[in-house]
Amino acid sequence: MKKGILLFLTMILITGLLSACGTSNAKNAANKKVLVMATSADYPPFEYVDTAKSDKIIGFDVDLANALGEKLGYKINVKDMDFSGLIQSLKTGQADLVLAGMTPTSDRKKNVDFSDVYYTAQHMIITKKDSNINKLEDLKGKTVGVQLGSIQEDKAKEINKTIPINIEDRNRIPDLIEELKTGRFDAIIIENTVAKGYFDKEKDLKGFTISDNPEEAGSAIAFPKNSPLTAKFNKALEEMKKDGEMEKLVVKWFGGKQ
Ligand code: ARG
Repeated sequence: MKKGILLFLTMILITGLLSACGTSNAKNAANKKVLVMATSADYPPFEYVDTAKSDKIIGFDVDLANALGEKLGYKINVKDMDFSGLIQSLKTGQADLVLAGMTPTSDRKKNVDFSDVYYTAQHMIITKKDSNINKLEDLKGKTVGVQLGSIQEDKAKEINKTIPINIEDRNRIPDLIEELKTGRFDAIIIENTVAKGYFDKEKDLKGFTISDNPEEAGSAIAFPKNSPLTAKFNKALEEMKKDGEMEKLVVKWFGGKQ
């Protein structure tokens, strides 16, 4: 009995000591350790709403954030916004982290910090099956849709330097697909990982990849500059890769290995 009380008191003491070290710990404890994750839920299987089933945001990134949060003792609240507003949400403190299939580009690194890459992807040109666009050069004079603020938009601008195209920006990926189907766009540029899901549903679409370096379009978690979370999440990511949890998530959402 006495031993029990002693143990209990020791635990309280240790807990007290732990929360006293570092202001960030104390702050998180006060906030009940909730982290706001901003995302753009237009990106199956990374983050999307399966409207037939519920209005909840689900996907690989949501599961990943929850699993990492679980390891580190945080609850994750998901907040939806347009992709082009995500970096700003970190800068203004509206969000603590961003998981949105976001690529750690050097441009973005000027404003935010990134974790290690957790999934790689490539750029893909998607067209209708009956189009005669089969290689980059065939895009000449065509209208190409991309997501506003994405690296696919940068890619389109780069292509435009050698192969003149008309670039159209949209905020949400489903809008790109829709306008491709109605013929307003001749082609769109999205990631192969996301295109795969659309090919399963949309039988009249085809595509080809154009980047040779998969890292070029891979995904990482973004944090505010100098956030102490970056190192913590990297450690937890590493653990998930080692203990097979990451592999399980990849199989669940992408249906197989990279
Ligand atoms: N990986 C690309 C980028 O960082 C596209 C990501 C789009 N993500 C989204 N949730 N819509 O620009």
